Amino acid sequence: MASSIYLHIPFCATKCYYCAFNTYPFHKEQAKDYLVALREEMALYAPRTTPLSTIFIGGGTPSMLSAAALTQVFADLNAHFQIRADAEITVECNPGTVDAEKLNVMRHAGINRLSFGLQAMQNETLKQLGRSHTVADFLHSYQLARDCGFDNINIDLLFALPKQTMAEWQDTLTKVISLAPAHISVYNLVMEEATPFYEWWKAGELPLPSEDTEADMFHYAIETLTARGYEHYEICNFARPNRTAKHNLVYWNNQACIGLGTGACGYIDGTRYANTRGIADYIDILQRGIKPVTHAERLTEQAEKAETLMLALRKREGISLAAYQERFGEEIETELGEIYGEWIDLGLLERTETHLRLTNRGLFLANEVFVELMS
Ligand SMILES: C[S@@+](CC[C@H](N)C(=O)[O-])C[C@H]1O[C@@H](n2cnc3c(N)ncnc32)[C@H](O)[C@@H]1O
Ligand code: SF4
Repeated sequence: MASSIYLHIPFCATKCYYCAFNTYPFHKEQAKDYLVALREEMALYAPRTTPLSTIFIGGGTPSMLSAAALTQVFADLNAHFQIRADAEITVECNPGTVDAEKLNVMRHAGINRLSFGLQAMQNETLKQLGRSHTVADFLHSYQLARDCGFDNINIDLLFALPKQTMAEWQDTLTKVISLAPAHISVYNLVMEEATPFYEWWKAGELPLPSEDTEADMFHYAIETLTARGYEHYEICNFARPNRTAKHNLVYWNNQACIGLGTGACGYIDGTRYANTRGIADYIDILQRGIKPVTHAERLTEQAEKAETLMLALRKREGISLAAYQERFGEEIETELGEIYGEWIDLGLLERTETHLRLTNRGLFLANEVFVELMS
């Protein structure tokens, strides 16, 4: 049983040069058929849910849908699922794709959290990333959202970008903090295969900052954001008090979540699954009343333990000793075996009264730590 839903809207105006997410150009007719298929998929999962606590409508660019189409998606969700009165409901928005009408539709449908992908506060950088908006577009969309009453807004930022200087990153953070959003995510740019950036990087044509500069940028973000009242609660995520992302905490706590839409992933009753990535395929399968799942795997207990540990260690508070014991009937030390002592001695892990967590050093080496954990 799940009390969370991720719903994927796979359309984007253009493809950013670094992005490997499952997205396609927008076609009005196809979008119509896609939403009908989504409704079919909701019906197939409705019996597997308890009242929903979190819904995340992501993409792609959900905010590209018209006000009427968005109204339909929310009506379908309400028709198939019980949604708790205090549920966190987030929609990802691209700057320049929202207007007052769409934002009001969202407000009235119960959407209470928006996530804007800004990435950087310099037009030149946005252009080099292949973004289809300017800084002014972002500022306009953000202000519109605030004027419409949205007070729980996240802003996504990228660092370690081609040609990006420390001064530019500092400028981005300063300007974003001055807008006082409830939540800020800072991601270091990852070179994803099958993207233009990856090809240029392989060809030696993408001048990325050094690893030292990248680490300095991350340190700077942590210092600045925490000094300005943002809690650093997950490796890449910072929130004002009581504004942590409940939906993302479902992932980091390795709890059940239904994934709907093309390429969406879900985790229900101990089974991870992934949907077909193609839109035409997705529509076709659902017209036949079948779940569009192309891959499903029931986790062994060992895999579930390792994943639970790895995901929870992303949180700054770490993993709750009591919650782990309750879920698996054994202590974390037992599961980690020799690694436990080794990592504590190496200064990667530390134990508090209630949690086991990564130290600051462990945080910077998190990827290496996680690889060892999963092996
Ligand atoms: C997949 S996008 C969807 C939201 C929206 N379309 C947008 O671009 O803002 C969500 C976030 O993923 C992050 N992202 C996408 N590709 C990435 C990459 N290669 N490396 C790091 N972060 C990435 C960006 O910060 C983006 O805001
Ligand atoms: S707008 Fe977002 S989802 Fe679309 S291509 Fe760019 S980063 Fe990817």
